[in-house]
Amino acid sequence: MEPKSSAIRNEEKEIIVKVKRFSPDKGEWWQEYKLTVDRFTQMTEVLRRIKTEQDPSLSYRAACHMAVCGSCGMKINGAPMLACKTLALQLINEYGSNVITLEPMEWFPRVKDLVVDLDDFYERMYKVKPRLYPSKEVLDGKAEHRLVPEDQRELWKFAQCIWCGLCVSSCPSVKNDPEFLGPAAHAKGYRFLADPRDTITEERMKILIDSSWRCTYCYQCFNVCPRDIEPVTTIKKTRAWSSKMKDKTKVVETGEKHVNAIADTIRRSGKLLEAEVYLRTYGLVQAMTDMVFMIKSGRMKYALIKEVPIKGLNDIEKIMTLGENE
Ligand code: SF4
Ligand code: SF4
Ligand code: FES
Repeated sequence: MEPKSSAIRNEEKEIIVKVKRFSPDKGEWWQEYKLTVDRFTQMTEVLRRIKTEQDPSLSYRAACHMAVCGSCGMKINGAPMLACKTLALQLINEYGSNVITLEPMEWFPRVKDLVVDLDDFYERMYKVKPRLYPSKEVLDGKAEHRLVPEDQRELWKFAQCIWCGLCVSSCPSVKNDPEFLGPAAHAKGYRFLADPRDTITEERMKILIDSSWRCTYCYQCFNVCPRDIEPVTTIKKTRAWSSKMKDKTKVVETGEKHVNAIADTIRRSGKLLEAEVYLRTYGLVQAMTDMVFMIKSGRMKYALIKEVPIKGLNDIEKIMTLGENE
């Protein structure tokens, strides 16, 4: 009998690939393809073989096949992924099915099949001015700007974005709020906002801070980024710059009130007192209006839940202080 390890090494399986196809003339339809894969077969290789051996009319994007060019983003089995970073056999084993679905990234307008229009995405990326603006002395060659290791450590992770758009395709705030720049643009923007060699900090703050308060902290961008960039972390870090902002927008002011009210109620009671946080964030007039809605919809009972004091408030106070001093 063949040893188990060599059986795994030589494993081959037949898969069914269901592609959500699209063309401006014919609209949308699902098409199935069958092929055999082994443990080395990336999903970009699956697509290449379908296109060259079975159906030249299928359109998709890919270039580097090694997760650096950012062009092969798509939905694989319903989740945003890079096709070149995803192995077919691994999907089969993880999902327990030999059927793999491929769809274009969500939110982006479709061009054809798995190819989407990235113009809006690039516009957002360029809005944050994705390059360093050094001082005149440095440009004239009269000074040298060095980055100390601590600053390099802060920036390095966020500079690794490959502009694949997967985070944007998964972001609910991008879909709902046209003023929100999106996770990738924030990762790029913060990378330069926090760079001590950059000279347009005020301008960057104006571009980024209002938008940063429009994120809902759902963490989808954190989950899907193939480079572990954590765009949501850059958004949190950008919000922390709000205190330095001179002319705060309404969105920033409301956001700050919300955060302060949350911290204050937890510090005082050990709990998030939703009703109080709401009142302090949105003010009496808005709270009264919403209260009428809650009474009418029978939800007022949730706002009137009697709070019970909790034990160990001192420990919560210590945790809060530690968090603030970080
Ligand atoms: S955490 Fe913010 S930026 Fe990231 S996906 Fe959610 S809403 Fe979008
Ligand atoms: S942050 Fe990550 S998911 Fe978003 S565009 Fe950059 S590499 Fe892609
Ligand atoms: S082909 Fe370049 S990232 Fe996948």
